[in-house]
This record gives sequence, C-alpha cells and structure tokens, in this order.
Amino acid sequence: MSFANGRETVLIPGPSILPDRVLGAMHRASMDIYAGPMLDVTADCQSGLQQVFGSSTVPYLYASNGHGVWEAVLTNLFSSGEKLLVLESGRFAVGWGEMARFLGLEIEVLPGRWDSAVDPDALEERLRQDSAGDIAAILVVQIDTASGCVNDIATLRNAIDATDHEALFLVDAVASLGTMPFELDNWGVDVAISASQKGLMSPAGLGFVAVGEKAKRKHRSAQLRTPYWDWTARDGDVHYQKYCGTPPEQLLFGLQEALKMMFEEGLPEVYRRHAAVATATRAAISAWEAAGATFNISEPASRSNSVSVFRFDGTFAAEIVDYCRTQCGVTLGSGLGNLVKESIRIGHMGHVNAPTILGCLGSIDAALAAKGRALEYTGVGAASHALGQWANSRSSDDPI
Ligand SMILES: Cc1ncc(COP(=O)(O)O)c(C=O)c1O
Repeated sequence: MSFANGRETVLIPGPSILPDRVLGAMHRASMDIYAGPMLDVTADCQSGLQQVFGSSTVPYLYASNGHGVWEAVLTNLFSSGEKLLVLESGRFAVGWGEMARFLGLEIEVLPGRWDSAVDPDALEERLRQDSAGDIAAILVVQIDTASGCVNDIATLRNAIDATDHEALFLVDAVASLGTMPFELDNWGVDVAISASQKGLMSPAGLGFVAVGEKAKRKHRSAQLRTPYWDWTARDGDVHYQKYCGTPPEQLLFGLQEALKMMFEEGLPEVYRRHAAVATATRAAISAWEAAGATFNISEPASRSNSVSVFRFDGTFAAEIVDYCRTQCGVTLGSGLGNLVKESIRIGHMGHVNAPTILGCLGSIDAALAAKGRALEYTGVGAASHALGQWANSRSSDDPI
C-alpha cells in the first residue's frame, strides 16, 4: 500500500520545484540567435540577475551548472601557484577549493565544523598572520547545502577589512541567491556566483557570475584564462560572444519568466516567504527532537532559510527518506559528505509555499508513525502553528 500516487513533490535542495509558468515559457521553437527576442531575453536576464545580486556591473551568463561557474571564476582570476584561503562550513567551499588545486593553485583550508558557520574571528586572525599578503583570494559559501548553515557575508567582509588585507572575496551563492538578500556592492564582495536550479526556480543548466571592479582588474593579468570561460571575450558587443557560441535558448526564457515572477512578488516578499517556510520547518524539527532528531547546525541564527539539515542515529534518516519517497511521493535530500548516512536535507527554496512545506513535514510525521516513533505533538502541527504565528508577528517593514 502506498500513498505516493499523485503529483510528486521533490524537496531536495536543488533542483527545486519548477513553476508551471516557467515550464510554459520554455515551450517554444528554436529562434534566431543573432537578432530579435533572443537579444531581449539576454538583456532581461542580465538586468534581473544584476538586481538579485545587488551588483552595479552586468553579470555573465553561462551554459553551465554551479561547478562550471566555479571554474569560470578560478580561470578568469588566477595564475598557477597563487594561494587561496577556503573557509570551511560544510562541503561546498571545500569542493570549490579542490577544483582550484586541480587547476594548479595553492589551497589552504581554514578548518571549520560542519555544525556551525565560519568564525569571523578565525578568519581575521589568519589574515593578520599573512603579513606578506600571500593569500590572493578567500572562498566561502553563503549557504552550504550539505550542512545547512548560512554564513554572514557582511560580517566576514568586516573581518577582512579589519586587517586591511587585499585578498579578493569570492562568494558562492548557488544555494542562497533568490532565497535571502545578497548585496555584492554594499557588502564588498568581489565576485559572486550562482546557478539557475535552486532559489531561482529554473531548470538546471545556467550559471551566473557577478564581478566587481577590483576583480575585473585582476582578471587582466590572469594566466589560467581559457576561451570558453573568458570574461573579456564575453564582454564583446556581438550577442553570440556573450555565450561563446549558441545560447541555451529555452533555458533563458525559463529564467526570464522566473525572474519576472520574483519581481511580481517583490524580492523582500520572496525572502520573507523563505524565512517563514524555513521557520515552519525548524519548528517541525524541534518537535521531532522527541523522536530522536537533532539539528545539524547547533546555533539557531546559523540555520539557513533555503535548506534544513537534521540527523537521526544509525540508519533511521535513510529509512525516513525512503518511506517518504516510496509511500508518500515526497523526495527529500539524503546526507552529503561527512553526514552521508545520518542526515536528512529538506530543500525549501524557490517555488515553495505553505501547503508544499506542510505536506512534506506531514509526510515525515507519517514516516515517524509508521516506524513506531509517533508523537503526541506532530511536526506538521508545530509547523502550522509557527507559520500562523509568524504571519501575525511580522510586518512588511521588519528587516528580513
Ligand atoms: C552551495 C553549492 N555550490 C555549488 C554547487 C554545485 O552546483 P552544481 O551541482 O550545479 O554544479 C552546489 C550544488 O548543490 C551547491 O549547493
């Protein structure tokens, strides 16, 4: 007996749910890549992303995923042997650093724990030791999709500024852009990257890079540059150059529609919706503590609004994920890296509203009941209560 038949709900932390409007916008025939609507859609996507990144420069659009734009940044900025400092807070900045090592760069990891955000004091201390200025750049993620933590980018920038260190500050916003504020210019971020398939509720296959002026200057002397990723080539006037070849036409129309939906809702409202849905999810996880769950991120302020990660002992997490998928039609994320066996990841990013998240949390309650850990106060009960309270206690003037 299964309750899974019906519309499947995929709440892995990316790719996220695609709105019907986005699917519909992509349903179109191939078109001229040199003129007409294709030129408009590029300009629209660039200006929309520019706003979401909070950047005064026009972002680059790539036919690639997040790994692709990691490589775009590294090849556009560096020469062999330069040293990068990677701030660990889970899997993803470290993965970016591993790619840099493969490209011939020197990598130092500032060790972090998988249960907490990057410590700004540790960053400041490490930079003070680098009086020779050997560190060319600092790599960090805003939200780590494996651990579920959110790093405070503005505070990390302040830590860098306190040392007057000249290193570039590079931020991976793959799991965060479109789910919480990002302010490239105001926060003093030199380069930020993201991809289409998470908060931006578009199909996988587009990568984005926003670049500040200091990074553009460094780009000129970089020796790892390659023709496909190269920013200078993509700055050319010819539309074809902006993609180094044929543009991913239909994906761009999907992204254009997704951005339009986000601006119709209003970015602050989009971020508030993510905060509300995440608050509801965290209320459910707190209720499940009575059934043996623990939050992966110990400090509440460091729990992200796009992905929640929690753990159970032994193989119980895997049993819950399996039950939700096979019996309830809800696909959750399993653990990654150090947390591969024991954690569950709920992606609540992009096109996620109250019934989507409450249905997911209720399915986990059903799984707990089926496995003999039924609770008097269910997760979904706690979540719906939190959602109602959240709406009552916030006004649209509150900071996000
Ligand atoms: C924070 C973060 N950075 C980078 C990536 C890599 O992106 P992609 O899988 O699109 O290559 C991911 C993927 O989950 C991610 O969560």
